Amino acid sequence: MAIIKKFRIRSFKKLDTVIEFENVSLSFGNRLILDNLNFKINKGSIHGMLGPNGAGKSTIFNLITGLLKPDSGTIKIFGEDVTHYPVYIRTRKFSTSYCPQYNGFFTDLTLLDNLRAISEIVIENKNYRTEKINYLISKFEFDNIKDIKARFLSGGQKKRLIIAMALLSDPKILLLDEVYAALDVLTIKMMQEIIVNLQQEYGITTCLCDHQARDLLATCDIAMILSNGKIVAEETPSNLVKDINARNAYFGENFKFN
Ligand SMILES: Nc1ncnc2c1ncn2[C@@H]1O[C@H](COP(=O)(O)OP(=O)(O)OP(=O)(O)O)[C@@H](O)[C@H]1O
Ligand SMILES: [Mg+2]
Repeated sequence: MAIIKKFRIRSFKKLDTVIEFENVSLSFGNRLILDNLNFKINKGSIHGMLGPNGAGKSTIFNLITGLLKPDSGTIKIFGEDVTHYPVYIRTRKFSTSYCPQYNGFFTDLTLLDNLRAISEIVIENKNYRTEKINYLISKFEFDNIKDIKARFLSGGQKKRLIIAMALLSDPKILLLDEVYAALDVLTIKMMQEIIVNLQQEYGITTCLCDHQARDLLATCDIAMILSNGKIVAEETPSNLVKDINARNAYFGENFKFN
């Protein structure tokens, strides 16, 4: 049993698919990055992606959000073929929030004005905007830094800001690219609790990747290893760390979990 997760999604009776990749391939120039990829992310699950640098994790997020189009194959969200939908339709229609690996905020706006700017786009009710911003400022302990321009925030503070921005819209699907990178130990714990609470209270589906493998596995129901353009293993965390293909491609011999 993981430190954070109290139960596994496998106990859910009905598993609806929220995100599905069918035979998705993508090359940059003559470099094949994703090679006929097939996977599903079930409704209300926390799905982890692990893989070496350059394996294609961020590329998968870009394909889900619509920032990239595959060379071939189909991407579905809530069962609908979105392969040719632009970013804004995927975001609005399916309530998707994306926390990118780098940047994702307005550098010359203060932390508070970043939250205000996004809230004006994603929250119609003005009172709820203020309520949500105040909640996030308190939850993420932004009170002392809310008037600092985003460019001057520390690495971890920037990361916390983009996570808070992603939560403004009350998303149904949360995509988190290296969410734990640059965060201190207590903030990682706080983020893990937020992700699991969002799942348990609101049934939010989360897909995240990170190189903090233990922190990622502690929050996931299922995780997959991406290597050389293919998914080499996809299992519950405790099974994944024992999987020979996962150990060969990513964890190595001595990796321990729990
Ligand atoms: N726009 C692009 N043009 C050319 N190559 C690209 C482009 N975007 C990504 N790549 C290449 O695709 C591969 C996958 O990149 P990606 O950013 O998805 O890796 P990653 O798994 O997220 O790695 P990391 O763990 O370092 O973040 C890399 O080899 C990268 O150089
Ligand atoms: Mg990446």
